[in-house]
Amino acid sequence: MGNSFQHLTGFFITFEGPEGCGKSTQISLFTSYLKTLDIGFELTREPGGTSIGESIRKILLDPGNKAMNPIAEAYLYAASRAQHVNEKILPLLEKGINVISDRYLDSSLIYQGVGRGIGMERVMKINEEAVAKVIPGLCFVIMVRPEIGLKRAKETSRTDGYEKGDRLEQEKRDFHNAIYQGFKQLPEFRKDIVLIDGERSIEEVHAEIKWIFSEKYNV
Ligand code: TYD
Repeated sequence: MGNSFQHLTGFFITFEGPEGCGKSTQISLFTSYLKTLDIGFELTREPGGTSIGESIRKILLDPGNKAMNPIAEAYLYAASRAQHVNEKILPLLEKGINVISDRYLDSSLIYQGVGRGIGMERVMKINEEAVAKVIPGLCFVIMVRPEIGLKRAKETSRTDGYEKGDRLEQEKRDFHNAIYQGFKQLPEFRKDIVLIDGERSIEEVHAEIKWIFSEKYNV
C-alpha cells in the first residue's frame, strides 16, 4: 500500500522532525484517528523498537557518551535499525499489518548526515543494508524552529530520565539549526516526504496530517 517495497501490503508511515516539534502529540492523535476508522497498526520507535534496539538506544542517548565518534554514532543508529527492520517492521508489513514509526531512516540522514557533517549520501550508504529496501510510503516531518522546539522540549517530561536532556538534546544551538535546515531540504533528497508547519495549533497540524493521509491512501 504505497510502500516502495512493492509486495508488502501494510502501509509504513514515519514521523520525523527536530527536537520539541510535537511528534508525540501528533502521533497520539493520528493513531487515535486510525482507531476510529478501525484501521489496525503497530506503533514503534527509533532508536529502539526491539529489546536489542532499546539497549543500543541507551548507549546513544546517554549524555555520558559525549566522546562518541560521529561514524560510530551513525553505525549504532543503523544497527538499531537493522534489528528493528528484520525483527519487527518487515515481518509486520509482510503480514499486512500497518506500521507507524516515531523516527526512522530520515533522522539519520539529517542528524548524522547534516548535523554531524557526514553527508546524506554517505549515511544512506551506511543504512542501505539496515533498511533492506523498507522505505516509508509517507514521512511526515513536523517543522518547528529550534528557538521554539528546544524550549518546548525542556518543558515536556523526560521519558528517558536525563534531567538536562539526552545527549542529542544537549548539543549546541548550531547543531539544532543545522538539523532544522536539513529537514527543510529533505524533500529535494527523498520522495514521499511531507513537511508540516508545526508552529500552528495542535488541531490544525492534526487536521493537515489526516488530510494528507486520506488523500494518499484513499480513506
Ligand atoms: P527521540 O527519543 O525520538 O527524541 P525526541 O523526543 O526528540 O523525538 O530520539 C532520540 C534522539 O535520537 C533524537 O535527538 C534524534 C536522534 N536520532 C538520530 O540522531 N538519528 C537517528 O537515526 C534517529 C532515529 C534518532
